[in-house]
Amino acid sequence: MNRRDFLRTAGGATALAGAVGASGTAAAQSTKEVAVGPGGSLVYEPATVYVQQGGTVKWVWESDGHNVVADSVPEGASWEGTEGGDGQLYDTGHEYEHTFDTMGEYTYYCTPHRQAGMVGTVVVNETGQPPSSGGGGGEVDPEHMGVPIQAHFVGIATILAIVVSVIFTFFVLKYGESPHASGGNR
Ligand code: CU
Repeated sequence: MNRRDFLRTAGGATALAGAVGASGTAAAQSTKEVAVGPGGSLVYEPATVYVQQGGTVKWVWESDGHNVVADSVPEGASWEGTEGGDGQLYDTGHEYEHTFDTMGEYTYYCTPHRQAGMVGTVVVNETGQPPSSGGGGGEVDPEHMGVPIQAHFVGIATILAIVVSVIFTFFVLKYGESPHASGGNR
């Protein structure tokens, strides 16, 4: 490999790392998923989801006989929940999604299980993250804490970029053209 080819390769790798970072950031805005009645339990999991304005929440039924009915919505919003309101239930495998364009807090419930505590909240804000008020409280599955897994791609891309830089530097120092170079590009 001569130096010019190497430079081209290194440039490509850096561009790739950048692309990975960019796609990771974009994906953070996508869809948050909520399990409806997982394992037959009368809950929405997670009970509270945070989405960015314009983000989508997708409910996936994991047991039978549930619905999603809006209880209170921010002023100006018109979300009602699953089609059919209180009178319509859905079974395992059903999927329902809604895109939230108005910021604020939306609460909802499952008609037959509201008394059993099957209620949930969608918080639509600028970041799609829970407010970082330290402590947070409660035991929360890290995956559901609002820190999207995609965020890790930014870190991975950064590490990749650092590694590429170090390797690049090594090759330039070892094989780079300089008046004192003894080997390499002949
Ligand atoms: Cu239910």
